[in-house]
Amino acid sequence: MTKRVLFIGAGRMAQAIIEGLKDKNDFSIIVANNGNEERLNVIRESYGVVTTKSWKKEVGKADIIFLAMPPNVHESLLLELSGEMNGQLVMTVAAGIGPSFMESMLPDGTPVAWVMPNTAAKLGQSMTMYAPGKWVTEQHIKIIETLISGIGEYERVSEQQIIELTAVTGSAPAFIYRIAEALENIALESGVTPLQARKLVAQMIMGSAEMLKTNANPAALADEVATPGGSTAAGLEVLDTKGLADLMTEAIYACRERAASLT
Ligand SMILES: NC(=O)c1ccc[n+]([C@@H]2O[C@H](COP(=O)([O-])OP(=O)(O)OC[C@H]3O[C@@H](n4cnc5c(N)ncnc54)[C@H](OP(=O)(O)O)[C@@H]3O)[C@@H](O)[C@H]2O)c1
Repeated sequence: MTKRVLFIGAGRMAQAIIEGLKDKNDFSIIVANNGNEERLNVIRESYGVVTTKSWKKEVGKADIIFLAMPPNVHESLLLELSGEMNGQLVMTVAAGIGPSFMESMLPDGTPVAWVMPNTAAKLGQSMTMYAPGKWVTEQHIKIIETLISGIGEYERVSEQQIIELTAVTGSAPAFIYRIAEALENIALESGVTPLQARKLVAQMIMGSAEMLKTNANPAALADEVATPGGSTAAGLEVLDTKGLADLMTEAIYACRERAASLT
């Protein structure tokens, strides 16, 4: 049976998820936001969904409420939402708004889920983690997974794991882009065009990711590239001597510390 999803928040993340649902017939979609009418018009025309200026009027008819708005507006919205609920599944993509917080704000027994995508969601290539709350059933899990499957791959984890691993799935893409930038600049020094440099580096990263997805051990994959005493081994030696692994750990811990201080 078709489920009615009410999105509150109509920005990049809501649009990525709605885009991912366009070939699925399981859902009918209603979208609300904070009053930006132009954005609602664009969404209505682009995705053929229903929009509303008043999410409150739609809550009673919805099966799922999907919060795609900034973390700092959640508390007041959940408070308002609490008075309108009749058992809907409530999901959020906001940093710091885990299942235990949502459960504490919503009526007892409310099924909730925390979804943590990354920016590649807009290309349908997100690595998304989700953590269900304590009232979520297997039927809810199917709904959650169908809703997020359109933005890429997903894994079910615990609330604590989302807290710890958002640095890996959400922040570390920025680390990869830094590496890409450095390699592109080196490629440009050899006289290729910027487009060529981008292609060389992007395809190299994509191929490496595909190799990792075969489940081979990263150390074994590195060994496969590096003949002992060969040119790649010389490069790896520099990275190992300068402590790339420690640097990566430090960077991930810095992300976690900052995230904790912001929530
Ligand atoms: N973008 C990402 O890659 C990404 C990744 C992981 C998690 N997230 C999380 O996803 C959430 C949304 O991010 P985004 O990138 O989609 O943000 P965005 O593009 O800035 O859009 C935010 C949306 O929230 C709406 N909004 C703000 N305050 C509201 C309120 N009080 N009531 C109802 N709607 C309200 C805005 O309404 P108007 O349209 O009226 O301005 C807008 O539609 C955030 O919590 C973010 O942390 C995003």
